[in-house]
Amino acid sequence: MSRDIFSTVFEKHRSIRRYKQVDIPEEDLSKIIEAGRRAPTDASLHLWTVIRIVDRSKRRKIASLINQEHVYQASEFLVFIADLYRLEKLLEYRGEELGDVDFALLLFAAVDAALAAENMAVMAEALGYGTCFIGGIQNIPREIIEILELPPKTYPLFGLTIGVPDEDPPRRPRLPTSMLVHIDRYRDYMRDELDEAFRVMAPITRSRDWLRIVKRYAGRGGYFEDRNKKIREVLREQYFNI
Ligand SMILES: Cc1cc2nc3c(=O)[nH]c(=O)nc-3n(C[C@H](O)[C@H](O)[C@H](O)COP(=O)(O)O)c2cc1C
Repeated sequence: MSRDIFSTVFEKHRSIRRYKQVDIPEEDLSKIIEAGRRAPTDASLHLWTVIRIVDRSKRRKIASLINQEHVYQASEFLVFIADLYRLEKLLEYRGEELGDVDFALLLFAAVDAALAAENMAVMAEALGYGTCFIGGIQNIPREIIEILELPPKTYPLFGLTIGVPDEDPPRRPRLPTSMLVHIDRYRDYMRDELDEAFRVMAPITRSRDWLRIVKRYAGRGGYFEDRNKKIREVLREQYFNI
């Protein structure tokens, strides 16, 4: 019996942060890119663009700015962009204009980009490569916009590294299915379930303290407070009407 995609790909997934210094053959790379292109896209709008960064000096600069060496080491580094610019261009080309749509389309652009990116990541992992999403570019959106020469009404969402793994990290835990999947209505959480969440997620750090991670990112004074402010400012600088 042939093995299904769950056991060959999803069950094996773990983010890879050390890569061998080799190129990905063109044939594999085009399969990965095409897998992304085949992703569904809301209303056929294609609200995403990906920038493949082949210039080593640009890679070096981004990796250093966000202090993530795997961005430099990986065979490929892709940056996914929320893109309303191309849509506006297409409309204007035919004498029409973009409506008052920026906020809603920005949300859907993030969905479109994530779908395309995950299709690429799954394809890459099915071919035996390792991947890692890079949200760290949110610490330097202005620099990314400058380095990649992004036009108005575009915003860099996240990166994706792809390459041949040079490490074999353990699989990281996930919250229990019962917390993630609700039936027919949103169901609130019991104390036991909240305790269980911290218990199952404990192995994610050496300290076995998942709260530290959640706090560091989403708590008061956490990374996302700074990002929250910066993202809004930069979106406005990029002429998003939000
Ligand atoms: C949107 C997004 C942004 C991420 N940003 C980073 C990042 O900047 N650097 C990094 O090393 N890993 C990053 N990751 C990887 C997560 O840390 C990882 O997926 C999570 O810890 C679960 O581990 P696993 O993928 O190995 O199962 C990111 C993942 C996602 C989905």
